[in-house]
Formats: sequence, structure tokens, C-alpha cells
Amino acid sequence: MHRARLNGPDDFDGWRVAARAFALAGTKPADILWHIGDEGDLFAADEEPPPVGEVAFSVPRAFVELAERAILHRDAERFALLYALLVQVRDRPASLEDRADPLVRRVEALAKAVRRDMHKMRAFVRFRELADAEGPRFVAWFEPDHHIVRANAGFFARRFASMRWSILTPELSIHWDGDALTEGPGATRRDAPAQDPVEDIWKGYYAAIFNPARLKVGAMLSEMPRKYWRNLPEAALIPELVAGAQSREAAMIATPPKPSARQGNAAAAWSALREEAMGCTRCPLYRDTTQTVFGEGPVDAPLMFIGEQPGDQEDLAGRPFVGPAGQLFDYALEEAGIDRRRAYITNAVKHFKHERRGKRRIHQTPETPEIQACRWWLTQELELVRPRIIVALGATAGRALLGKAVTISRVRGAPIALESGAQGWITVHPSYLLRVPDEARKMEERKRFVAELREIGEQVKVLA
Ligand code: URA
Repeated sequence: MHRARLNGPDDFDGWRVAARAFALAGTKPADILWHIGDEGDLFAADEEPPPVGEVAFSVPRAFVELAERAILHRDAERFALLYALLVQVRDRPASLEDRADPLVRRVEALAKAVRRDMHKMRAFVRFRELADAEGPRFVAWFEPDHHIVRANAGFFARRFASMRWSILTPELSIHWDGDALTEGPGATRRDAPAQDPVEDIWKGYYAAIFNPARLKVGAMLSEMPRKYWRNLPEAALIPELVAGAQSREAAMIATPPKPSARQGNAAAAWSALREEAMGCTRCPLYRDTTQTVFGEGPVDAPLMFIGEQPGDQEDLAGRPFVGPAGQLFDYALEEAGIDRRRAYITNAVKHFKHERRGKRRIHQTPETPEIQACRWWLTQELELVRPRIIVALGATAGRALLGKAVTISRVRGAPIALESGAQGWITVHPSYLLRVPDEARKMEERKRFVAELREIGEQVKVLA
């Protein structure tokens, strides 16, 4: 029996060096005892890993990315599972692509749980303000399910680069002083402050973006599990908002229609797809965002709108078209007589591409590889929802819909027959209307946009 000692529960580099040495020496997975620090010394085996030999081997990059995430899982068997997979992939690289392979599935499930936990941390950490001798300092308390804190630290350092902050968790604390990250021991909830004035801003924001018509308590609980509520100032509003929304909804709909079998299946498939997209790493954009902003709306919507990508506010809220362009879009839809709640609204790219200027995050247009990578999700949304009419808002959405570059002025104003049998429309993006400098032209452009939407609304009545 061999022994492999790792420096911590998330010591990927240590695991990698040891695993490589064992694999080169031909050691069987069952002959290695993986342990962290001094733990397990009672049963210590005799041999450390052999020195790394001369003969190298390589594994696909996808394996390394998978292992980097899976190793952060709390499952005590993860090191051994990863080693077994490493040996398998070295000998049979194609097995990594085999979704039916039990080992691949097990390790992917670990990685998926870790990605979800990382996403939850990014979405649900709430800082509370404290003042010390050097000025304001922001402190948050968070209880992750897995060993993700160190892996998520870079995200928070980039996202809150100009603040001094600490995130306290039971196993580890991380601190940012505006320049460098440092680590400290674990903490308890009592070490973090309970409330501060920033909370009122969050509460106001949350109440403003809360949409009673789209309230799904089950979905909300799965997205924002109760365990996180204690740390979220806005969660204090939830019971009140939910109660109000439910009574309004009850008054509106006496007898809700039963979903058809297709709707039921599509809804379940959509939830699973959205869940998967939450951990998306198909292009590098996920690295510096709060979350994936997936599409929303009825899964049997006859009409789908595709925007470009979430903006700053959408990134924070986790919903498409809720910022300034979204508000303009809402007005235009209303004027055109289209009920937003009956349409499915999504984006070509599901992460917010931006560059930082000081505290601001400035929108950047997504490029072809990012649009291409994200078509994976859009294609599946299209297949699930199967809208009769699809409207691409702007050139990025046009490219995502048709798979090639489009000139809006050439294709605008007339329906396009899509291969799927649906009717496509390509028009301007609402943010274009916000940017037209001349007031008179702006009015004209808005009128034209509303007229197009009205025509699309008429088509929906005919086709749906
Ligand atoms: N612009 C978009 O294209 N999508 C959004 O969700 C918001 C702004």
C-alpha cells in the first residue's frame, strides 16, 4: 500500500504531482491511500509516491478542467476516483467523451455539484459594512457545501477589486485589501456583522425586480435554497412578496389550465438545462460574472425573443432584459400589444462580457467564438420551446439565429423562413434605440420598432 499526502482538501497541484508519479510507476488505484495533512497517520502505509520518472504522458485538457473542479467536492473518495479516471483516460482518451461510462459520470456529477456551489457562492455572498482605522471594510459570511472558497477567491477579488473585504466561512477566511488576497482560519457566523445600511439598497433593488407574475416558489427555492436566506437581506422580503403575489395571482386565475404532457416534459427538461447552464464553462466569459443568465418564459411560448447578452443589471439579477434596455423593450412590447409574460426571452450569449473601468463594468460586444460556444444552449432552448416565431434583436442575436453574419438594414422588416419551419425576424436591439443621439430620429426609430413588434404580434395570432 502506498500513501499520498495532500496539503489541503483542495490541493489539486499536490494530487496532480502524486497521481502522475503513481501512474508512471503503474500503481493500481486500490493500492493508494490518499489523505490530507496528518489525518490518517494511524493507518499510515509505508511508501510515499515514487519520484516522477522521465517518461511523461499527457491527458486531454478537458480532463484537467474536470479534475480541478471535482477535487473540490466533499466526497472523501474523490482523490481515488480521479486517479482511477486519470489512468483510464491515459489508456483510453476517448472514454472521457463517453457519457455512459460510470466513472466519467461519477466524476462529472462531483464537478457539477462543485460548479453549482461556486455559482451559489457568487450569487449569494452579501457583504455587510464595517469601519476600521483604515476606512470601510466589507465582511460576508458564507457556508459552502464543498471546498470551493479558495477557487472562488479570484472571482471576488476581480469583482470587488476596489473594496477591502473579507469572506468568512467555517473552514477558511479570505481577505482582500485592494491589492492582495490573504487567507486566515475558519470563522463562525457570529464573527460577521449582522446588518448594515447597504441592506436597504439590496431590499429596494430586489423588490423592484421581483416579478409577481413569474413567481414560482418551487423554482425559487431550488435556485435560492433556504439555507442562504439567513445571509440575504432581501430574503426578509420574500414571505411578504410571495404572499402578495399569490393572492394577486389567485384573483387573476380562478382555474389554472392543466399543463399538457409535452409542456410537463419540456418544463422538466428546461429546468435541467438551465441548471446545467448555471455551471457553464464553454467559453472564458463565466470567469468574471456573477452568474449565467438563462432564458425565461413559458416553455410552450409561441414567440421567442433573442437578445445579445446580459448587461450589468441582468448579471446581478440573473434575469434577461431587466436593465435600461429591458425597460425600453417592455414599453415597446406593451405599446405593440405583446404580453411579455407569454413570450420566451433569452440571449445569444448567457454571460455578461465586459471590461472594468474603475468600479464600472463596461459592456463589450461578444465575439464569434463566444456566440458559437453559447449556441449550444440557444439551440436547446429553441428545440424545447419550439416557438412559431423567433425574433433576433440586433446583429449578435441575428448571427446566433442564422449561424452567419447579418446586416440588419438588409434583413429587417420581413419574415425569414427558418429551417425549423418557424418564422424568423431580425430587427434592431433596444439598446440601439437608447443610443440614437438625435431626439427626432430617436422617436422615429422607436415608432418603427413598435410597428415591427405589432406586425410580429399579429403573425403570432395567425400562426400560434
Ligand atoms: N441586452 C440584451 O441583449 N440582453 C439583456 O438581457 C439585457 C440587455
